[in-house]
Amino acid sequence: MSPAGSTEAVSVRVPGKINLQLAVGPERDDGYHELSTVFHAVSVYDRVTVQPAERWSVHVTGPYAHRVPTDDSNLAVVAARTLARRRPRGTKVDPVRIDIDKRIPVAGGMAGGSADAAATLVACRELWALDHVENGLLEEIAAGLGSDVPFMLHGGTAIGSGRGERITPILARGELHWVLWAGEGLGLSTPEVYAECDRLREVARTPVPDPAPSGELLTALRRMDADAVGAVLRNDLQDAAVSLRPVLAEVLDAGLDLGARAGVVSGSGPTVAFLVGSQAEAIDLSVGLAANGPMGDIVRAVGPVPGAQLVQHVRPTQPPPPPTRPGPLGPVTG
Ligand code: C5P
Repeated sequence: MSPAGSTEAVSVRVPGKINLQLAVGPERDDGYHELSTVFHAVSVYDRVTVQPAERWSVHVTGPYAHRVPTDDSNLAVVAARTLARRRPRGTKVDPVRIDIDKRIPVAGGMAGGSADAAATLVACRELWALDHVENGLLEEIAAGLGSDVPFMLHGGTAIGSGRGERITPILARGELHWVLWAGEGLGLSTPEVYAECDRLREVARTPVPDPAPSGELLTALRRMDADAVGAVLRNDLQDAAVSLRPVLAEVLDAGLDLGARAGVVSGSGPTVAFLVGSQAEAIDLSVGLAANGPMGDIVRAVGPVPGAQLVQHVRPTQPPPPPTRPGPLGPVTG
């Protein structure tokens, strides 16, 4: 059912992501950093529902709702308005009401805002019947909205290059089990973490090589071998995130002490992703972290999972057809 009951509504489910590799290169002239990253979509989902409305609006529910803006700065609203503006000539669209059920930690390095933007693009394309808007245009709009948005359209496991917006899918069979730790109120701003990374590199005079995908990681992913993947998880932003939120060092130590195969800060943090070998290990680790680790939300997830996917299209209730009245000669039969 649509939130309003009987009007047309489209719902899309979208996962969060973690980064199995995040190699950060030098800062470019446009202020972004050249990246080579391996995105991995995990089974923590937001659900975005759109329906026609008199004016544009966004409403957020779920455990993290209080931390999400509900004005025009919400990336989902920007996404809907951008698609409306770039729609093919001759098509007509109505403003939409956007409802987000928010389960992906906010400002956590899991691309939750980007995920909602990607989901909104998919939902509005369906609602507005813009079938002829090709994936290429959707991806171009997505890239303009944010570096992580194109990946959230794809999901799975994929290499991101450029500033993260150029996606090359990796075909990998099998799944990995994760335990995610998200600290309430620890949220980090992405630009702040990149700036801290630059500062730490400058202080240490670390040479900054051009970022490239890790061959070892790609090989390990082909077999989806948790220990082999765990051995090469790497995030160049991790030291910067730990420098800004020192509790993350305690979280990483606690997870490893409690039996995680490996742990890594996701993206610009502060979510920490622990890799385990099975669902049973995930349960043990999450119970251990809840009892003995630093305070935070603990979620079990698997990956890879698909990106933004249509889950429901409620069509407006059609008025029942008028009863067929027999003509003057009675009903036509035969
Ligand atoms: O693209 P997005 O809006 O997600 O990026 C947010 C901020 O993160 C950018 O303004 C920039 O400061 C930083 N960033 C970066 N290099 C990237 C991606 C993001 O410096 N490749």
